[in-house]
Order: sequence, then structure tokens, then C-alpha cells
Amino acid sequence: MMVKNQESLFKSIAPLVALKSYRLSMAEPHILRDFRQSLTNKYLYISLGAVVNQERSRQKVVFVRKICIINQKGGVGKTTTTINLGAGLSRMERKVLIMDLDPQGNVGVSLNQFSEKDMYALLVESADPGECIRNMGKNLDMISSKENLTKIETAMTQEQQKTTLLKRKMEKLTGYDYVLLDCPPSMGTLATNCMLYAEEAFIPVSTDFLGFKALKSIMKTIETVNEQYGHHLKVTKIIPTMYDQRSKLCKQILNEMKNEFYELVAEPIRVNSKLKEAPSAGKSIFSYDKESTGAKDYFSLVKAALQDEELFLKSKASMVSKVKMAMAKKQQAVAN
Ligand SMILES: Nc1ncnc2c1ncn2[C@@H]1O[C@H](COP(=O)(O)OP(=O)(O)O)[C@@H](O)[C@H]1O
Ligand SMILES: [Mg+2]
Repeated sequence: MMVKNQESLFKSIAPLVALKSYRLSMAEPHILRDFRQSLTNKYLYISLGAVVNQERSRQKVVFVRKICIINQKGGVGKTTTTINLGAGLSRMERKVLIMDLDPQGNVGVSLNQFSEKDMYALLVESADPGECIRNMGKNLDMISSKENLTKIETAMTQEQQKTTLLKRKMEKLTGYDYVLLDCPPSMGTLATNCMLYAEEAFIPVSTDFLGFKALKSIMKTIETVNEQYGHHLKVTKIIPTMYDQRSKLCKQILNEMKNEFYELVAEPIRVNSKLKEAPSAGKSIFSYDKESTGAKDYFSLVKAALQDEELFLKSKASMVSKVKMAMAKKQQAVAN
């Protein structure tokens, strides 16, 4: 009944009124779905999208996207992707926190800045996240790491639930649209901490034979961790990296990836020397050379991540309403 009224209402309203309903739909996802179905005027839908995008920056952060950038293989572009995705999103008015969970500390090295209290202090020395965060510019914060993070295995032997340490430390931190985790190239305690904190995984994969093998292996690892810990980490992007357009093998591997993982596969990041040079200047690719193919490719990835936001918000909102319903039922059962 309510949906029917909603339909006739939406057919006659102006975009700005619809925008209010869009916000409402963040809490009630079925309304958005019905709204979309009822749209006969395509222009209204397009202009609504634009208005929503403009308005988005002024909205309070509702849900944070926690994304681990993960692959057990080294040198596939995890750090490069974390930094440039983070820098790109921050330029699109998203508030971003980059966390370096790799003891090689390449995030700080690449940006030539370090947090005073680092990842080790956060995980082992009971520092608060707020104390460890270093501001890198508008909308972009970072917690760096260094070699002492390798000591975590021994430092945490007393820790009862050492695999969920990061998740528990980060529980109260709010105010970010995105938390991006640069993961280590091994599958120990640190990587498990990343996987159990994150809700999404972006997997950079070098477009070569060994890269494709590593992709299958990390997919399996994520499945195993989910089963073992009752977690729901979802792979939401596979990012082909080091792509050489002239190489037959690269093309072939990219096709194989797409045949197996369909729309999860993002546009490839081409080999580009500017991406190698940017860290030596302590800059993201957008500050170092915004005309480079590296900047163009990473901007495509940023846009793809922004496009997924609506889906993410919807799934979160539906989860919240399910939890609310379950709680209401429970309360009613107790009252009865
Ligand atoms: N698309 C690319 N083209 C050229 N060099 C790249 C590209 N992506 C990353 N690199 C370089 O390759 C090396 C490994 O990348 P990195 O992001 O550190 O990988 P990982 O974090 O997975 O070990 C670095 O020197 C980096 O600058
Ligand atoms: Mg790295």
C-alpha cells in the first residue's frame, strides 16, 4: 500500500523532493528500489544522480567502507593502489584513512611522511587510533608502519584474540568514508587482522601467468578465513596491474580473468614509469603527473569505487534494517 502511494508520488515530484526520499531510502532500501522501478523519466534519474553526488560531500558519513588491498604476492601494486586510490578518493571529497599493515612501511616511504605513533603503537602499545593518525592534506589521513611491526607475532602471544585486534582497536573510530588497508605480502597474523577488520577486499593482480595463479590462491584464502571465523569479507574489485597493451600474454591473462570473475575485474592499470617515479618525489600520481596514463588509470579506479558506493550503502542499510527488525522481534518476545 505504502509502495503504491510512493510510486504515484515519485512520478510527479521534482528532483529535489526526490533527493529527500533518496536519503530516506538509505534507511529503507526497498523504497529506493521501488522508486527506481517507477521512474519513467530518465532525465530525472540522471539529474538526481548528479544532485546526489553534489550533496554527498555535505552529508554526514553514514557508513564507512573498510577495504583491504590484499595479495600475498609482492610487487603487484598493493601499495601503489592504496596510495593512489586513497589520494583520488580524497580529491573526490571522500574522507579517507590509509593504514599501512606492511612492516616494510612503504606507504610512509612513498609519501615521505610518517605518523609519530605508528601501527605498532596502535596494535601493541595500546595507543588510540587518534594519536596515531597523521594528516596528509585535505580529506586524507594516514597511519604509517615500520619494521618493528614484524615483532607483532611475538608481542601478541599473550593476546587471546590476536586476529581481531585491529577490528577492536578501530571500533570507536568514526568520521571516515573510506579506510584503506595496505596489506603485507604474507598471510600471517597481520593479514588476518586486515581481513577480519575489512568488509571488502580489492585485489591487485599483475597481468602475468604467476599473477593469475596468485589471484586464485588469495580468493581461496579469503574463502577459508571467512569460513574459519564466520566472517563476510567480500571481494569487490580485482585490479589487473602492470598491464602492457602490446603484450599478447597480458591480453590473454586479462581475458581469462574476465571470463572467470566477470564484472569484478576493473579496468587494467597500465605499466607507467610515472607510477614508479611518484614515490621518490613523495607524491601521489595525481600530484606528481596528473596527465600520465597512471593518473588516468587510477582515476578510472576511483570512479569505479564511487559508482559502487550506492550498492554498498544499500546493502549496509538493508543489513541495519534487518538487525533492527530482529531486535524489535526479540524485544516483543521478551515483553510477551
Ligand atoms: N602500473 C605500474 N607501472 C609501473 N610500475 C609500477 C606500477 N605499479 C606499481 N609499480 C612499481 O612496482 C613496484 C611494486 O609496486 P608496489 O605497489 O610496491 O607493490 P606491492 O605493494 O604489491 O609490493 C614499485 O616500484 C612501484 O612503483
Ligand atoms: Mg607494498
